Amino acid sequence: MASSAVESAAGSLSRLNIDDWVSAAPNLHKNISLLSPQQVELAKMLLGLNQSHLFEHWPEPGISDDEKLAFFDQIARLDASYPGGLPSYIKTARELLADSKAGKNPFDGFTPSVPSGEVLTFGNDSFIQYEDAGVHEARKTAFVLVAGGLGERLGYNGIKVALPLESTTGTCFLQHYIESILALQETSCRLSQGGGPTEIPLVIMTSDDTHMRTLKLLESNAYFGMNSSQIRLIKQEKVACLDDNDAKLAMDPQNKFRIQTKPHGHGDVHSLLYSSGILKEWLHVGRKWVVFFQDTNGLLFKGIAASLGVSATKGYQVNSLAVPRKAKEAIGGITKLTHQDGRTMVINVEYNQLDPLLRATGYPDGDVNSETGFSPFPGNINQLIIEIPPYLDELSKTGGAIKEFVNPKYKDATKTAFKSSTRLECMMQDYPKTLPPAARVGFTVMDTWLAYAPVKNNPEDAAKVPKGNPYHSATSGEMAIYKVNSLILRKAGVKVDDPVHRVFNGQEVEVWPRIVWQPKWGLTFSDIRSKVRGNCSITAKSTIVINGKSVYLEDLALDGALVINGTNDGAEVKVGGSVQNKGWIFEDVDYKDTSAPEEVRIRGFRIKKVEQLQKP
Ligand code: UTP
Repeated sequence: MASSAVESAAGSLSRLNIDDWVSAAPNLHKNISLLSPQQVELAKMLLGLNQSHLFEHWPEPGISDDEKLAFFDQIARLDASYPGGLPSYIKTARELLADSKAGKNPFDGFTPSVPSGEVLTFGNDSFIQYEDAGVHEARKTAFVLVAGGLGERLGYNGIKVALPLESTTGTCFLQHYIESILALQETSCRLSQGGGPTEIPLVIMTSDDTHMRTLKLLESNAYFGMNSSQIRLIKQEKVACLDDNDAKLAMDPQNKFRIQTKPHGHGDVHSLLYSSGILKEWLHVGRKWVVFFQDTNGLLFKGIAASLGVSATKGYQVNSLAVPRKAKEAIGGITKLTHQDGRTMVINVEYNQLDPLLRATGYPDGDVNSETGFSPFPGNINQLIIEIPPYLDELSKTGGAIKEFVNPKYKDATKTAFKSSTRLECMMQDYPKTLPPAARVGFTVMDTWLAYAPVKNNPEDAAKVPKGNPYHSATSGEMAIYKVNSLILRKAGVKVDDPVHRVFNGQEVEVWPRIVWQPKWGLTFSDIRSKVRGNCSITAKSTIVINGKSVYLEDLALDGALVINGTNDGAEVKVGGSVQNKGWIFEDVDYKDTSAPEEVRIRGFRIKKVEQLQKP
C-alpha cells in the first residue's frame, strides 16, 4: 500500500475509539495498515454491525494479505448491490429472524377475499378482441425474462433457457422467446398506426450461475435474429448468508476470507430495472407495459397478446397471469387481503397459507371448489404484466426494494441455532405488497393447457408426483407444446386426432400429434385461423413442422411427417392434399443411460425421423 494511503487509513482510524477497535477485533487492528480508507470505513461498518467474528482468524500482516483485501472487495460488492447497503440488509434480517423465531404470522389481521379479474376462454369472441387490443399495445411493451435461478430441482448441467422446448425441431427456450417477441413486434408495428417505439426490447436477468452461458448462447446464435442492441442482460448479485438470529454473517466453508452467499430470489429484478435506469429510458420513449416471465414456460406466448389486451382494456397496473386451480392444489392463489386497519393488497398467497388463513377468518371449510369445480382463488403462474408509469413512481419511493422473507431451518424447538446458514429472499410477485389500496391490481385466468407448462423437475422427482398433479418435467413440458398446438388447430377447424398415452421416464403423458410452428407463422388465434382453409386433418401418429410466415394449409390430410418451409420473400405457400408416410417416431431413452445427451435423457425419448415429406 502506498505510504499516503497508509497514513490516510491511519487518519481514519485515529478518528475512532482505538480501544474499541482493539477489544472488538484485535486481529483486524493489527492488519489496519493494509487497508485503504474506503476499506477502513467498511471495517468500521462491519464492527458497528456486530460482525467482529469475521476477523477472529485473521493472521499477522504479511500472511494471506491478498485474501484479506479480496475479503473487503467482496464486502464492498455486497454493500453496493443491496438497496441501503449491508446495514439495511442486517437490520431487516434481524427483524425478520425475530418474527420467525416468535412464529409471527405475516397474515395476522388480514382477511382474504377473491380479487377481480378476467377469465378467458381460448378462441371465443372476447378472447379475440383482447388479442387484437394486446397486439396493438405490444409495440409499447418490454419483456423481462428472469433467468438467474440455479434450477436445482431440474438438475440440468446447462442453463435452462438453452434446453430444447421440444425435440421435433430442437428449438431452445431462448430462441422461441426471441422469435415470439419478434413476431409480436412485426404484427404490432404493421397493425398499429402512429408513432412510438418500433422495437420491443428484451431484458434478461442473469446471475453468476447463468450470466456467461446466457451471453454465449446469444452471441453464438447471432441473438436468434434480434438486434443485439435490443437485448440487455442485467446480472443479479447473491446476498450474504447468516449464521444466527443476530444476523451474524456466515463464512464460506471453503474459504475463510469470504462471506458465504446465496441467491436472493427473482424479486431482484425490480431493483435492477430501477437502478440500471432502464425503466426511465422505457418511460421516456413512451413504453407502457413490462411483461415479466420465467425461463422454461414454453406456453407463455400463447396467451400474452390476450393478457396484454386485458391489462390495456381494464387499466390494470399489475396483471397476474393465472390458471384455474383446484382447492388446496399446490400452487399459490391470487388473493385480495384486507387488513383490520384498512390496508388492502392483491398478491400471491402460498397454498399452504391460504387454507389456514381462510379457516381462521370465518370460512370453516377453508379453500374449497366453487360451482365451477375450481377454487375461486386462481393459481399464480408468476407471469406479470405491469404498467410502466405507476411502476416507476412506486419504485422511485422504494428504490426497487421488495418485501423480503427468511426461511431458516432451525436445529431444535428453541429456535436458536440453524441447521445451515440462511439468507433473505424476495420474490418478483411480491411487488404489489407495497402498492396503495387504490392501485388497480387484477388477474387474467387462462386454461392451463394454454398458458402453463414449466420445466422444473428432474425425471426421478417428476415420476414421484402424486397422480393427477402436473409433472413439470422436460417430458411434460414438451408434450404440452404438442397439445396446445393441436388444440389451437382444432379450434381453427382442423380435425386433429385424440392423443395416445405413453410412459416416458416413469411419467404417463398424453402424446398429441407433433404439431410445431415458428412464432411468425401464427402468434394470435385470428392469424392462425386465417391460415387454415377447407377440410384439414392430422392423425395421431403425425408430425407437422411449419417454418415461415405465409404458409397456408388447404384441404390437407396428413398421416405421417410433413416439413413445410415458407419462402423468404413472403410469397404464399399453399400445402394440401393427402400426405402419407411412415413419419417420425419416439424411441425410448432411459434417464440413467448416460450415453445419451442430458437434454435427451431428461425427457426419456428421442425422435427418430423414419420418413417425411418436405415442401416445397
Ligand atoms: P424457480 O422457482 O424455477 O427457481 O425460479 P430456480 O432457482 O430456477 O430453480 P430451483 O428452485 O433451484 O429448482 C423461477 C424463475 O425465477 C428465476 C429462475 O431462473 C426462473 O426463471 N430466478 C430464480 C431468478 O432469476 N433468480 C433467482 O434468484 C431465482
